[in-house]
Amino acid sequence: MALFGFGKSASPEGRQVPRHIAVTMDGNGRWAKKRGLPRSAGHAVGAETFRTIATYCKDIGVQYFTVYAFSTENWTRPKEEVDALMDLFRKYLREAVETMAARGVAVRILGDLTPLPEDIRALIQEAAEIADTLGSSAATASLCINYGGRDEIKNAVRQIAGQVQAGLLDPSEITEDTISGALYTAHLPDPDLIIRPSGEIRLSNFLLWQSAYAEYYFTPVLWPDFTVKDLEDAITDFNRRSRRFGGVK
Ligand code: IPE
Ligand code: IPE
Ligand code: MG
Repeated sequence: MALFGFGKSASPEGRQVPRHIAVTMDGNGRWAKKRGLPRSAGHAVGAETFRTIATYCKDIGVQYFTVYAFSTENWTRPKEEVDALMDLFRKYLREAVETMAARGVAVRILGDLTPLPEDIRALIQEAAEIADTLGSSAATASLCINYGGRDEIKNAVRQIAGQVQAGLLDPSEITEDTISGALYTAHLPDPDLIIRPSGEIRLSNFLLWQSAYAEYYFTPVLWPDFTVKDLEDAITDFNRRSRRFGGVK
């Protein structure tokens, strides 16, 4: 699989559609606060935005759509908020299990799943089994839950060190592909475009290894307000970029 590229289709205006778009779904809490609502209300609307944008991405030919839904650091939030987020994951995972075959979208969950409630882990397993039955032409929507870029790299190092210790791998044989292949994203090409709404200009531990040559797009729009037009603006901006990958163009 080539590392970088464009999706098969172009949008109606003839623009190239990135093959892999990733989004940090940020700003739900501020969206709710502005309206005097509990933070959980912002998460609920943000989840609807996820559905709208994921569907649109599939329709315009984005092969891989990856979202940051819950970080390894988000456990430090009040229990009430964490519980509300877990309830949303339950709801959307159930929906995914019921509809992904008909929609032709493989929903996959990336992250350290061990601390998640048992019933959510069972739903994730069910979704993975259905995703495995979908052909390679299916679009992939990946939801990063209890995901941290550093945690992911640490786990990859442990896995590779285990292979070395078992005598299966010599340290001189470790390549960049060995590391990419030990990450949660082993089955995905690197992201071409990473969008962060909500006005924050930081990575917050998202796709640290995979973003080496991603194009970033930052916008002040809060995720629950993010529309198809905002996505199109990001894609238009992406089309203006000159991606050189360290070479000369
Ligand atoms: C993103 O929105 C959702 C999660 C991190 C789970 P936030 O909840 O971080 O919203 P803000 O940043 O407080 O507005
Ligand atoms: C990043 O947003 C994590 C997710 C959107 C899931 P945060 O709101 O947790 O990040 P910080 O705290 O602003 O860096
Ligand atoms: Mg935030």
